[in-house]
Amino acid sequence: MAINSKENVKNSEASLTDMFKDLASHPVPKHARSYMFCFGGITFLLFLIQIITGILLAIYYKPTPELAYESVIFIEQDVWMGAAIRSIHNIAANLMVITVLAHMLRVIYTGSYKPPRQLNWIIGACLLIVVFAFCFTGYLLPWDQLGYWAAVIGTKIMGSIPWLGEKLLLLSQAGSKVTGYTLTRFYALHIVVLPVIAIFSMVIHFLMIRKQGISGGL
Ligand code: HEM
Repeated sequence: MAINSKENVKNSEASLTDMFKDLASHPVPKHARSYMFCFGGITFLLFLIQIITGILLAIYYKPTPELAYESVIFIEQDVWMGAAIRSIHNIAANLMVITVLAHMLRVIYTGSYKPPRQLNWIIGACLLIVVFAFCFTGYLLPWDQLGYWAAVIGTKIMGSIPWLGEKLLLLSQAGSKVTGYTLTRFYALHIVVLPVIAIFSMVIHFLMIRKQGISGGL
């Protein structure tokens, strides 16, 4: 059978349409139509905003100690809409912390962490760490005094964790102190490693919600 036969293309088109139809025609259950249940979705929306504004910022940002600060100033002053896009990225990052915490409080309040959703609670906890890690790594990227000292303090705190601390400190700083190597390491985490972990975890989070349904229904 030819790989790209007309029939195969038609079948795959049909299954894609079915998938989107299934996604779009799934109504929100009545018991979940409350403001309390909107925070997970808002967090996801903010994440999408971060991806779009992050890609736009990455077009001009330069992750080296010599050029990072200069490139941020260039974005602020010379790039069309640069200051607005940078502000949106900053504000959405802060809002995301608030909404993810509100979402977690809702899950605690409604007891939705209980079986059978305990695994989704753990995936959610990983997502919470990922959100904090996005903020921590992103804060260093302008390579200004605030970001530099926040990275020094943050990595030192990691260093105080029993057993693993020393290794984590060396690994996160890419050496014994915060240098240009730390900047490139944080940049790689911020734009590659964390987004991949976040997207993968969100896909599992959402598939599990789809399979188990939102808690509280009969
Ligand atoms: C980037 C972070 C996150 C996103 C985008 C996200 C998104 C969502 C969405 C859209 C829902 C559907 C119900 C709702 O919106 O309330 C949900 C449910 C759920 N989330 Fe999250 N979430 C995140 C982080 C977390 C965290 C930090 C936890 C807890 C540690 C968590 C635990 C759960 C659980 C247990 C459910 C099922 C709740 C139920 O069935 O009532 N999530 N999440």
